[in-house]
Amino acid sequence: MQNELSERFGIEFPIYAFTHCRDVVVAVGKAGGLGVLGAVGFSVEQLRIELEWIDDHIGDKPYGVDIVLPAKYDGAGEMDLDKLTGQLQDMIPQGHREFVRELLDEHDVPELPEGEEMGSGLMGWNAATAVPQVEEILRHPNVVLVANALGTPPPDLVAQIQAGGRAVGALCGTPAQAGRHAAAGLDFVVAQGYEGGGHTGDIGSVVLWPQVIDEVAPLPVLAAGGIGNGRQMAAALSMGAAGVWTGSMWLAVEEAAGSPAQIRSYLDATSKDTVRSRSYTGKPCRMLRNDWTEAWERPDTPDTLGMPLQMMAVREAMVRGGRYPDKAQDIAFNPVGQIVGSMNKVRRSADVIFEMVNECIDSLERTRHMLGIE
Ligand SMILES: Cc1cc2nc3c(=O)[nH]c(=O)nc-3n(C[C@H](O)[C@H](O)[C@H](O)COP(=O)(O)O)c2cc1C
Repeated sequence: MQNELSERFGIEFPIYAFTHCRDVVVAVGKAGGLGVLGAVGFSVEQLRIELEWIDDHIGDKPYGVDIVLPAKYDGAGEMDLDKLTGQLQDMIPQGHREFVRELLDEHDVPELPEGEEMGSGLMGWNAATAVPQVEEILRHPNVVLVANALGTPPPDLVAQIQAGGRAVGALCGTPAQAGRHAAAGLDFVVAQGYEGGGHTGDIGSVVLWPQVIDEVAPLPVLAAGGIGNGRQMAAALSMGAAGVWTGSMWLAVEEAAGSPAQIRSYLDATSKDTVRSRSYTGKPCRMLRNDWTEAWERPDTPDTLGMPLQMMAVREAMVRGGRYPDKAQDIAFNPVGQIVGSMNKVRRSADVIFEMVNECIDSLERTRHMLGIE
């Protein structure tokens, strides 16, 4: 199962696990895959705490970190975080905030207890936070990979990451985006198809992966979107992917940090229960369909804003929903891909890896047998 990229990272299996949960990063790393921590929800101080915890628990295994620096965003270039936050807050129409409050009240989601802060919701979606995040990330020697979610990272950031010998990559949803990543000198690209969880484009994985692989060859491509078992992994490797980049399936592992209500909703959902919606982040993001996503689709409701304004406008729903997950489940943000339909039980991360590898080997052996190769 080795290839140039996995050998560079020193991992046993070419399985990359995107997660917001440090315990999953460690469990996947110890099982022979590569855990990638999503940094977007963390301030620089919080990120330092998470990375130090990973360093203390992962031993000599490598891991990665994913930042979210969109190629285009409102407030681009502003590096003073307080000033940027104030400017953006002023751009949010009052009607949006009122609509969010109405939805929360209709669903009887309690107010935050006195003294609990809401925060701005701006987080790492901009240069003012993503750049210091990268500086922090580079202080941790076991980080072998930095990925960017929403576009080609700027040249100075690419040079800074590569200078320390780490690999830098980025996600893409079209061959043209992949071409831009390659032209910027990235070390790998992640091709994420329509069925994937989180921000996702509109080309299905089986169509997208070979197009991207051809577009950027010989640059390694990790296949993402709709991979939840070893047969899907075998398909991706057979098409020429250098590995699989997975997200959804780590939401329902034993080590995941989701609330019991959220994990239940993932376990119960079928593959028809997701929708691509701009209602939480301002960009098309695949999540479970619920009263919240339906409400933003109605013709009489506000249009969604761009990134990061929509995220800031709906901050109250995120925070109150996070505080009272049982009450807010019908309007909660549950990003997940179509493989949610096969996420039917909670497993240990290590078991997920081993079952996936075994099933992948079985699939590839079946194919060899079909070809008469013993
Ligand atoms: C809950 C969730 C949050 C995600 N957040 C991010 C993110 O912050 N940055 C990023 O690069 N990708 C993010 N993604 C996308 C994953 O990196 C990955 O490409 C995707 O989950 C692959 O498709 P799959 O969900 O079918 O496995 C997220 C995915 C999920 C499910």
